[in-house]
Amino acid sequence: MDSLSITDNRTGKTYEVPIHYGTFPKYGASIRGADLRNIKVAEDDFGLMSFDPAFVNSASCKSSITFIDGERGILRYRGYPIEQLAEQSNYMEVAYLLVHGELPTKTQYDTWVHAITHHTIVHESMKEVFHGFHYDAHPMTMLISTLAALSSFYPASRNVADPEVRMLQIYRLLGKVITLAAMAFRHTMGLPYVMPDNDLSYVGNFMNMMWRMAECRYTPNPVLERALDVLFILHADHEQNCSANAMRVVASSQCDPYCSAAAAAAALFGPLHGGANEAVLKMLRQIGAKDKVNQFIKDVKERKALLMGFGHRVYKNYDPRAKVIKRLAEEVFEVTGKNPLIELAVELERIALQDDYFVSRKLFPNVDFYSGIIYEAMGMPSEYFTVVFAVPRMSGWLAQWQELILDPDQKIARPRQVYTGVAIRDFEPIEKRQAK
Ligand code: ACO
Repeated sequence: MDSLSITDNRTGKTYEVPIHYGTFPKYGASIRGADLRNIKVAEDDFGLMSFDPAFVNSASCKSSITFIDGERGILRYRGYPIEQLAEQSNYMEVAYLLVHGELPTKTQYDTWVHAITHHTIVHESMKEVFHGFHYDAHPMTMLISTLAALSSFYPASRNVADPEVRMLQIYRLLGKVITLAAMAFRHTMGLPYVMPDNDLSYVGNFMNMMWRMAECRYTPNPVLERALDVLFILHADHEQNCSANAMRVVASSQCDPYCSAAAAAAALFGPLHGGANEAVLKMLRQIGAKDKVNQFIKDVKERKALLMGFGHRVYKNYDPRAKVIKRLAEEVFEVTGKNPLIELAVELERIALQDDYFVSRKLFPNVDFYSGIIYEAMGMPSEYFTVVFAVPRMSGWLAQWQELILDPDQKIARPRQVYTGVAIRDFEPIEKRQAK
């Protein structure tokens, strides 16, 4: 076995630490953090830890779901390149692939779609939960809360060790997330909620629940339905990102998947993660015109602003999802008419990619740079964009959850800390204390 020899210069002792590999030796080489604990100055020492705020160089799990090569701009689900899936597959098939590890046969696919479709209806009381939200509540806050509220309807879901119970919750969460997301949209718009139509596709049904008005039957526009389906494929999973990590951390306490998914959605809400799609539109509106782009880039370089939708912890190349989305925008605009913000976004990208600030830091457009422009052209308000990200990401969160439960290496997630506070002091009664 390959190993690392570490000499502790405090004691002169040398330790052999085994090196472990994943599928690709080039990317997955790691040492076990716990092996460092043997490195001590004295027998009663705690032992050495690795200090890694924000997990910039720590693997929290072994995973066989998603592979990213950030240097080369590669993304694969279960080994399949994202470009092939976006071109040839559909979201329901990709969700099956993420959860089960293989593409479904025709029979498996039909059973999967049937089960998810027949779990789209939510309990009638959920309407009361929605009625409790203020008229201008952010749709993500409604989605996060109602995902957690599902837990109260399905207490048996806490039995996470039972594979059948787990699969039932996977069907329910994949089915109900489109209904809850659409209810959040209708609440924002002040419109009555729409029942699912089980004759439509998964995405078509989501569109139906968002946009059906007085017509007897909603028929989704096939170009927009396919575009949204491709966007769902692109957003389905992204290995150990902030929200997947939140899902895993919360679920590691054996919490039920509804509360864990609510935690994951909360992590996605932040503007540095899935909330960036909303922030990009705000930024483009603030810039306002192509001739203001240079000034905005100057502000970014002077650290007065962030170029939202640019940069990524893992990608140091063009995000492959952003490439597909940029192409998709043209197809959507054929139906909806051009969103004028696209020209501003393209100009911003062009100038940024010529500028040494962005080139030297390897900052490229990420998945959120162009997606909001498409959602807006389809008729969604910007506060709703992160909800449309969360809907397909549910399949990734559930795949990560299932993998965590089945992984014998996993325990409750509980990081260490490096304590830097006061060592010890005596308690003082309140009347003797001085303000510090
Ligand atoms: N605009 C301007 N400068 C940036 C940007 C940006 N969008 N992103 C990174 N930088 C700079 C940083 O200031 C830093 O510069 P320095 O080394 O001179 O201090 C350098 O590039 C490295 O960036 P970090 O912040 O260290 O990178 P990190 O991996 O911690 O952050 C993140 C990644 C959060 C995505 C960051 O690039 C960012 O804030 N981007 C804008 C928000 C965004 O688009 N988020 C969506 C990401 S995709 C997703 O989550 C679905």
